[in-house]
Amino acid sequence: MHVAMIGAGYVGLVSGACFADFGHDVTCIDKDTTRVAALKRGEIPIFEPGLHELVEANMRQGRLAFAADNASVGRADAVFIAVGTPSRRGDGHADLSFVYAAVREMAPLLSPTAVVVTKSTIPVGTGDEVERILRECRGDAGIPVVSNPEFLREGAAIQDFKHPDRIVIGTDDMRARAVLAEIYRPLYLNEPPLIYVSRRTAELIKYAANAFLATKITFINEIADLCEQVGADVQEVARGIGLDNRIGSKFLHPGPGFGGSCFPKDTLALLKTAQDYGVPLRIVETVSAVNDQRKRAMARKVVAALNGSVRGKSVAVLGLTFKPNTDDIRDTPAIPLITALQDLGASVRCYDPAGMEQAKTKLEGVAFCDGPYAAAQGAHAIVIATEWEQFRALDLARLNSVMAQPVIVDLRNIYRVDEMRRAKFRYSAVGRAGVG
Ligand SMILES: NC(=O)c1ccc[n+]([C@@H]2O[C@H](COP(=O)([O-])OP(=O)(O)OC[C@H]3O[C@@H](n4cnc5c(N)ncnc54)[C@H](O)[C@@H]3O)[C@@H](O)[C@H]2O)c1
Repeated sequence: MHVAMIGAGYVGLVSGACFADFGHDVTCIDKDTTRVAALKRGEIPIFEPGLHELVEANMRQGRLAFAADNASVGRADAVFIAVGTPSRRGDGHADLSFVYAAVREMAPLLSPTAVVVTKSTIPVGTGDEVERILRECRGDAGIPVVSNPEFLREGAAIQDFKHPDRIVIGTDDMRARAVLAEIYRPLYLNEPPLIYVSRRTAELIKYAANAFLATKITFINEIADLCEQVGADVQEVARGIGLDNRIGSKFLHPGPGFGGSCFPKDTLALLKTAQDYGVPLRIVETVSAVNDQRKRAMARKVVAALNGSVRGKSVAVLGLTFKPNTDDIRDTPAIPLITALQDLGASVRCYDPAGMEQAKTKLEGVAFCDGPYAAAQGAHAIVIATEWEQFRALDLARLNSVMAQPVIVDLRNIYRVDEMRRAKFRYSAVGRAGVG
């Protein structure tokens, strides 16, 4: 199959490389000429484990190419749209301008037998508008538009794409279903995770999934707050409820609030859709509001750990990305935490294994350091904001020796109380006892 992937970001690049690895002939198209030039040289513009090797192998074998123009659209059996759908400034609706622009640009070039597939996360009804634009630009109504939302997670994107729990294919057009089935066939030789639904249902499945996961995280975060007050341990509560198959253990890790390129914007966009249709989603509204407040509120934990004030103190923040194994800092909890600490009078030093360059564009007055020990130099407290592997086994004696005082605020619960006690740290975590 010939596949064109419009947008070579986290989703487009991973999906395109994986489709090529299945044996399809794929061109990833991106407007960003610098990005395309880098990709052509074999340089990967994002941090995603295993992606470099996958792209390189498939380019070498001639199945994966990159372009800054739409010329290859003409020979594509399927054109996937994987451009960004960020929150629209001001009202939280999904900004669909990139999607619609991509459709207008490709419309005249499409083969009459092509199928257009939206992989971007788009509100219910967007597929209808894409179909209308195609009709307007081409003067015919023959091109099916399919919703095929993507569920991969950054940091584990290739594994997720190649071993999905399910593949949702939203269309009633039988020929389009057959084209999508053929594209994904290498994945379901052993198991059939394809779900055929209507386009609107597929569009909503994606938002409902993200809103549900965001709710699970927010639920355990609030239970963590309660644990702190009643003297219970949230890790054990999470295990105690997560072993119940009806609940499941995933997404029950308390922390500083969910972030990233999807959950915050997708919960907001779902709320806007629900408002437009006059159906209030009170649970999701609350999840979004509670999570927003939580990120900045994490600064209060640092204040408490420093006996009531951070003014004039130096705080080292370890981890800037919204989760490990990505360089993505979109809506990361670390940024509101850092700005709140600065507002309270602290000076902030930080380190992240992959997110420093992006963070430099968002933060001012922060010292960016070469590693965790450099960040800890002279600090009155360390805050662990992202659970990168390399932060899980820090040399505590070395940290203690370079800090102004031994205080750790572990917002990801990656350390044990007994090791902190042994290393003579004052330690606080989320939803469980610390070392006073
Ligand atoms: N990042 C994730 O983990 C994830 C997971 C599932 C779904 N999604 C959804 O997938 C979509 C893409 O997300 P992303 O994180 O990959 O975005 P991204 O910002 O990393 O990449 C989007 C790319 O599209 C390019 N682009 C924009 N307009 C274009 C056009 N007209 N022609 C060609 N290229 C164009 C941009 O230059 C950019 O490189 C979003 O709707 C997102 O919600 C993201």
